[in-house]
Amino acid sequence: MRMVDIIQKKRNGKELSDEEINFFINGYTNDEIPDYQVSALMMAIYFQGMTPTETATLTQAMVNSGETIDLSAIKGHKVDKHSTGGVGDKVTFIVAPLVASAGVPVAKMSGRGLGHTGGTLDKLESIEGFNIEMTKEKFINNVNTYKLAVAGQTGNLAPADKKLYSLRDVTATVDSIPLIAGSIMSKKLASGADSIVLDVKTGSGAFMKTLEDSVALAEEMVNIGKNLGKNTVAVISDMNQPLGFEVGNANEIKEAVEILQGKNVEDLRRLSLELSSHMTVLAGVFNSYEEAYKGLEDNLKNGKAFECFRNLIKAQDGNVQMIDDLSQLPDSKYHVEVLSDSDGYVSEIDAESIGLAAMYLGAGRATKDDQINHGVGISLKKKIGDSVKAGEILVVLHSDADNPSDSINKVKEAYTITDQKVEPNTLIYNVIK
Ligand code: URA
Repeated sequence: MRMVDIIQKKRNGKELSDEEINFFINGYTNDEIPDYQVSALMMAIYFQGMTPTETATLTQAMVNSGETIDLSAIKGHKVDKHSTGGVGDKVTFIVAPLVASAGVPVAKMSGRGLGHTGGTLDKLESIEGFNIEMTKEKFINNVNTYKLAVAGQTGNLAPADKKLYSLRDVTATVDSIPLIAGSIMSKKLASGADSIVLDVKTGSGAFMKTLEDSVALAEEMVNIGKNLGKNTVAVISDMNQPLGFEVGNANEIKEAVEILQGKNVEDLRRLSLELSSHMTVLAGVFNSYEEAYKGLEDNLKNGKAFECFRNLIKAQDGNVQMIDDLSQLPDSKYHVEVLSDSDGYVSEIDAESIGLAAMYLGAGRATKDDQINHGVGISLKKKIGDSVKAGEILVVLHSDADNPSDSINKVKEAYTITDQKVEPNTLIYNVIK
């Protein structure tokens, strides 16, 4: 088999066979096929697309290129959740204990963040002492005992994807729906869950800016899951403004815990219940979405979900007093108010700009080696649809500098205020099964 023939076949719009796909993935992973030929193939795929069968084969080949995590020692049906990423997305800290409170085991392996705020692990480390390093035995034992554990990602999962993604990044071939879908799903499938729920974000602050592209990506990922024998559901949710009111590490933990303690932050609570309902139905603990939603809402109200989160923190050496009394979480030296210049209604809050403003404060990493500052972040006081008067507070910056001018400017840029009344955004656009 020759790589040049595979490139030509795809360039001419033909379907690649399983053998051809496995040949190029194996050859590329083992450094036997050079970057320039794989770049040419990526560009051919970018223009010609892939059939559902090709996409599933590509995904499986990327899974097979490395280790897969064996969760079979964990009792019960394991469901994983994946978000395509957004600003203020702290849903994991609500969904994981909520699903666990319904008896579904959650074995969460997470990473650190590069970008506007930290990743799941960085945010959890806002809680003093919280330890994400543990042996595989302890991880499995904790999930079996408490139904929930969170550990740092170990193992060499889908190395073919890592290599391909770096190449796509520098050859203008990231924006291909089959390639994105295969990339995301290969990592999820290698992580060992029995079923997968995807939160596909759509809008200005999301990877997918239009609803049409988001639906196409969601459909492709659900198809891959089905083709490879994993039940997969995708929820398309709004990222035209940050989710909830808090952005930053301790800020996001605080807001998530408030929901677990019974507070109602409408969009955050609603999306968490939506995702958790699909997860628990897939796990077979509820018969219908409606039954799941009600049962999980009860577990938010009766404190069971909060108790699961407390157990997680205790089991992983975290200082549980910090979540019982949220004022003990890290905070910044200064609280700097950013005020509205005009009267009107908030019509846009560019999530990416809010994310950047948080990063300038120190909430995220611009490079891999940057240190996270857990106490800095942004509290939004106005969301889309809210009325505002000149001089009213739009956001409060939690900052260690007394005049964080870059972040102030970025936040001002993010907000658009109009004269006309504005309807609040739709939160959930679609569910694809
Ligand atoms: N995220 C991924 O993991 N892969 C892509 O290709 C794009 C976004």
